[in-house]
Amino acid sequence: MRLVQVPLGHRSYPIKVGGGLLSRLGAECAVLKFGQRCAVITDRNVGRTYAQIALKSLTASGFKPVLVTVPAGEKSKRMAMVETCYDRLARHRLERSSFIVALGGGVVGDLAGFVAATYLRGIPFLQVPTTLLAQVDSSVGGKTGVNLAAGKNLVGAFYQPRLVLCDLDTFHTLPLREYVSGLAEIIKYGIIYDAILFAQLERNLPKLLARDAATLASVVARCCEIKAEVVGQDETETGLRAILNFGHTIGHAIENSSGYGKFLHGEAISIGLVAAAKLSHQILGLPSGDVTRIEKLFAQAGLPVAIALSPAQRRKLFAAMLLDKKVNAGEVKFVLAEKIGRVKFGCQVPMPLIERALQK
Ligand SMILES: NC(=O)c1ccc[n+]([C@@H]2O[C@H](COP(=O)([O-])OP(=O)(O)OC[C@H]3O[C@@H](n4cnc5c(N)ncnc54)[C@H](O)[C@@H]3O)[C@@H](O)[C@H]2O)c1
Ligand SMILES: [Zn+2]
Repeated sequence: MRLVQVPLGHRSYPIKVGGGLLSRLGAECAVLKFGQRCAVITDRNVGRTYAQIALKSLTASGFKPVLVTVPAGEKSKRMAMVETCYDRLARHRLERSSFIVALGGGVVGDLAGFVAATYLRGIPFLQVPTTLLAQVDSSVGGKTGVNLAAGKNLVGAFYQPRLVLCDLDTFHTLPLREYVSGLAEIIKYGIIYDAILFAQLERNLPKLLARDAATLASVVARCCEIKAEVVGQDETETGLRAILNFGHTIGHAIENSSGYGKFLHGEAISIGLVAAAKLSHQILGLPSGDVTRIEKLFAQAGLPVAIALSPAQRRKLFAAMLLDKKVNAGEVKFVLAEKIGRVKFGCQVPMPLIERALQK
């Protein structure tokens, strides 16, 4: 098992990465000295295979868990579902010393984390992420929240978990498309922070695609370490944390303007990351060899690297980009790369250059 610490003073917490961790859930919670009552929040897909393992482990350690299962998918990330969860917790008489286990992908993590942040003004929670995206990204760093009809993630709280358990065995059931989508965030970490990780990904991509346990352990732990380091320096995104949004300005606009669901998050940011690499070449002088390496790695992972847009779709995409909540006073600020492993945030990019970067 690998151990990564998220350094946030008295709110610091460990991330454990390895096989077989879900069945150790109860023992891990016992060490944290929580009250007996707890809730496992999961979705139907994940619950089908993993809920009983979690409940059995918690019960064996003397806890009294209640299972709350929500429908799978982004539509569960909304206020009505938060209320459904509150009702279940209240009925099961969860109190201040009680805790919540978020068992699932980023949807469950964001929803259950927000429920934990707000129920009784906050009770402890643990993340047990079961998608690649959730293990390397959404379960670490304390962003929780839900969507509104007006847009994604518009309501939420910064609320850190007490522990993150990344059980690599849960990938055995993860659909290929979801798995590959998670690889996009992993490649992102290499570009923004770690040239050695990027080179390791180039060498070991076939092993990673085969879900090789040793490769996954080292890569997932390294990505968590990078996110922990960044979040440790800038928890609430006043500066440095913005580098995690590399490729996301365009990526979010693609997700949004194409109707959520057409592209998975990783697919949309893959297009956004390759476009950002091209812009980085033009604006910051990222070597063209690096642009080629970046595009090639995404393509070899099976991710899309460009998008064909009609004029109407292009207009929609640019309108979505200007509506992004990270845009200030109509100015689109980009994270751009100087070289693989180093990025700058707050870069101004002229719109016509963005258009060209999106084309093949
Ligand atoms: N909080 C953050 O910092 C942060 C960061 C990135 C993304 N997010 C959020 O994360 C969400 C996306 O997360 P996601 O990509 O994990 O999607 P998801 O939670 O919807 O999971 C994807 C699908 O895989 C299924 N699934 C999950 N684990 C499985 C497993 N082990 N075996 C079989 N099926 C499994 C789910 O039921 C779902 O159908 C978005 O809402 C996004 O906004 C949050
Ligand atoms: Zn992302």
